[in-house]
Amino acid sequence: MPTVYLETYGCQMNVSDSELILGKLAADGYTPIDGPEGADVILLNTCAIREHAEQRVLGRLGELKRFMKADSVMGVTGCMAQRLGPRLMDEARHVSLVIGPDAYRALPELLDGARRGQRVVSTDFDLEEHYEDFTPRRFDKVKAWITVQRGCGYRCTYCIVPHTRGNERSRRLDDVVRETHQVVADGMSEVVLLGQTVNSYHDGASDFADLLRAVGAVPGVRRLRFTSPHPNDFSERVIEALADVPAACEHVHLPMQSGSSEVLKRMLRRYSREEYFACLGRLRAAIPGLSVTTDIIVGFPGETDAHFEETLSAVREAQFADAFLFKFSPREGTPATRMPAEWTVPEEVASERMARLVETQRSSARAQNLGQLGRTCEVLVEREARRGGSMLARTRDFRSVLVPGGTSLLGHYLTVKLTGTTGSTFTGTVVPGRSALPLAM
Ligand code: 5AD
Ligand code: SF4
Repeated sequence: MPTVYLETYGCQMNVSDSELILGKLAADGYTPIDGPEGADVILLNTCAIREHAEQRVLGRLGELKRFMKADSVMGVTGCMAQRLGPRLMDEARHVSLVIGPDAYRALPELLDGARRGQRVVSTDFDLEEHYEDFTPRRFDKVKAWITVQRGCGYRCTYCIVPHTRGNERSRRLDDVVRETHQVVADGMSEVVLLGQTVNSYHDGASDFADLLRAVGAVPGVRRLRFTSPHPNDFSERVIEALADVPAACEHVHLPMQSGSSEVLKRMLRRYSREEYFACLGRLRAAIPGLSVTTDIIVGFPGETDAHFEETLSAVREAQFADAFLFKFSPREGTPATRMPAEWTVPEEVASERMARLVETQRSSARAQNLGQLGRTCEVLVEREARRGGSMLARTRDFRSVLVPGGTSLLGHYLTVKLTGTTGSTFTGTVVPGRSALPLAM
């Protein structure tokens, strides 16, 4: 049987797509393997969100070349494949297969062509495609990533995603619920619903509130999360559902992008600073103990020192448990690249702002974390920690906790007391007698 080795870059949506790709290839007679040595097919499922993500992939393509046999196929899938199409084969001559996110259904045939020596490119969008009949080969044994929406209907001026994943479309609620039953039957008790603006989910009959209620009602689903929502799609119905559904966790990842209304306007985020904070306020009022994480871009075209100060003050005010901070990266074809050249923020200014933002968020998180010490909470053990003899677990509000123990704890719920914090991670001691297996096991 031919073997396939696949590496995944980028977001959770790509991880979920990789699970679909490997499921499809396994069903077609391929054996997935854990290393590139001797693989008949090497695939990189790629991200295009920032220049840096693409540079990493190009570098990795070069490294992996030495593992190719005379008849191996090197393929690139995902967002970078969609963005560059045949141009990718000019950048890396040993790549003979380039497949975008809507074209995985034909992967076996396309691979046959590439293995016969053809150069194959398939980057058509298919707005009907949800890969319903694929059986994903899941990497994670504890939590299930379930894609509920593909593509994106917003047009933020910095973002390549509408170009690489096409327009927004939602899966049918019944199909998502069916997949949820399956993952529970497979022993998982946490579900993460995925979409580029996941709370704008609408399948024609049901909205995201309906979806949260339906998935949360599947017996055995003990934790329900979703990523990433857009602030404008938090309707009262959705917030009510989050507050009502017992499995829905007390954590929302709510990308802010900037604390300046002027910058937000140029980003075409469709909310102001005040509207972002109003959304945050409604969520926090409805969901006690809610923790919030965010994404922020620094150095967007036209960002002045005064605009950046507004981002710093927003970070202090919002009390984010964690923040993913990015330097603006111009993406070919996006509106931000057509803004006046004099708006460009010099690299050294962006770097200096980044350092200040990192420090501001870090001290905010440190103060919040100290306030958590002594708290007793439920954690789900997710994976082995890098530090030997301990496992990494998560609270419902998405804090990482190191607990003593080995892999036999994987997938178990424990009650822990938070005893220490090292920056972003907590250490915890297990409170005896109150730990439980997931309901489904
Ligand atoms: N440059 C920098 N960061 C970006 N993001 C999206 N596009 C860009 C870009 N061109 C960030 C946003 C988004 C996260 C996934 O990546 O903050 O929320
Ligand atoms: Fe990267 Fe965006 Fe594509 Fe995810 S959807 S892989 S973040 S470009």
